[in-house]
Amino acid sequence: MLYIGIDLGTSAVKLLLMDGEGAIQNIVSREYPLEFPHPGWSQQNPEDWRRAVLEGIPELLHGFDAAQVAGIGAGGQMHGLVVLDENDSVIRPAILWNDGRTAKQVDYLNGVVGKEKLSKLTANIAFAGFTAPKLLWMRENEPSNFAKIAKIMLPKDYINYLLTGVHCTDYSDASGMLLLDVAHKCWSQEMLDLCGITEAQMPRLFESYEKVGTLLPEIARQTGLPESVVVCAGAGDNAAAAVGTGTVGEGACNISLGTSGTVFISSEKFGVDPHNGLHAFAHADGHYHLMGCMLSAASCNKWLMEDIFKTSDYAAEQADITPDKLGNNRVYFLPYLMGERSPINDTNARGTFTGMTMDTSRSDLTQAVLEGVAFAIRDSFEVAKALGIPIRRSKLCGGGAKSPLWRTILSNVLNISLDLPESEQGPGMGGAMLAMVACGCYPSVAAACEALVHTAQTADPDPAIAAKYEARYQQFKKVYPALRELFAGMNV
Ligand code: XUL
Repeated sequence: MLYIGIDLGTSAVKLLLMDGEGAIQNIVSREYPLEFPHPGWSQQNPEDWRRAVLEGIPELLHGFDAAQVAGIGAGGQMHGLVVLDENDSVIRPAILWNDGRTAKQVDYLNGVVGKEKLSKLTANIAFAGFTAPKLLWMRENEPSNFAKIAKIMLPKDYINYLLTGVHCTDYSDASGMLLLDVAHKCWSQEMLDLCGITEAQMPRLFESYEKVGTLLPEIARQTGLPESVVVCAGAGDNAAAAVGTGTVGEGACNISLGTSGTVFISSEKFGVDPHNGLHAFAHADGHYHLMGCMLSAASCNKWLMEDIFKTSDYAAEQADITPDKLGNNRVYFLPYLMGERSPINDTNARGTFTGMTMDTSRSDLTQAVLEGVAFAIRDSFEVAKALGIPIRRSKLCGGGAKSPLWRTILSNVLNISLDLPESEQGPGMGGAMLAMVACGCYPSVAAACEALVHTAQTADPDPAIAAKYEARYQQFKKVYPALRELFAGMNV
């Protein structure tokens, strides 16, 4: 049989066709636009996701027997607010995970409602990208749109709704709404009241590997798939990526170098970071995880390459960064092009190069960007370390993981080994694996990981380079605090 994994990302949807042995048979990618209507705002049109998925599936199946497809599972960009009216029509563009418009609402939630109360109700505090502050923003700034809301959902849930007609979500993705009582896996009535919404407006909750329905006849006709195809609830992209890299069980770690950069620490028990530096969310395997999320990771490199250097030849730009240069760069880059979430939680933070001299070269800037992202990932590692969570090695996935140089830099900055699975298609692979569990191929997500995920290669740190990066990281750590006030003043 065949299984479709959907990775509903920020710049594109990636569809993947996997066979019963976990081998990827085909991949199709369709891009869609991202709107930045104001500095720091970020939105997307759910209609673009719909078109990309429904037109992409027939292309994915080209040359394969569609009747063999048994299941579909999606991993989607988290936190995005999708609002539907009573006819299930989209009311306004989705406000995305990296949107920073809700600074005022976040201040209200964290300052007036209070971090302690939020953390007690939801296991988390408010961050600009989370869904609840966006609802408050809408209530205040678009009251007529807010009054029309019949259903609230997250990006991949909208796709699942289109496929099955069921308004559903899963616990991993719902955790990032700041509306879920993560510990008890139910909506928090107090949080719903606070945002002026009712449980009837919320989607039904499922475990990621549970079946939510089968394909609507119209969708089956449009895509060429059988109506019997099982659609599972799927997961937030980070939990799906963790499944796709086999990151389940106590203490297992996955790093994703995608548009965002995340450190995902799987846990069998529910636990909260008492300082809320890491998010405490449900995992797609039925358990929990802690996660640090930086808003711009591989997107910083893409920005430098494509928008600034006007090139798509990333490897050529990295060719001059020879091993002797590692740990010796005097240029630092703060990767805060969309503000930052973990661990500094500052929508005003901005991207910055510092330390340049007349002999600074183009490749020093490229290196600084790769290193700046690695240092910011290390910031989340430091938070985990302070909580007494030892991370001795990690899986790695996402577009940035394709660069051998970036893997080497990251492994040395973190001073741990990084295992690269055979496929770096984390969320799509995880989505297809969740569908296999929903179809009964495996008794649990952990069993699917055990059978289907294999490490292709490992990047190991070099003690001499790691020592140099340790010293560089100590310098990097001082740059943001020195600029924090400046950033706040620049954005008034
Ligand atoms: C996680 C987060 C991002 C998005 C990216 O909290 O906001 O990783 O899920 O798609």
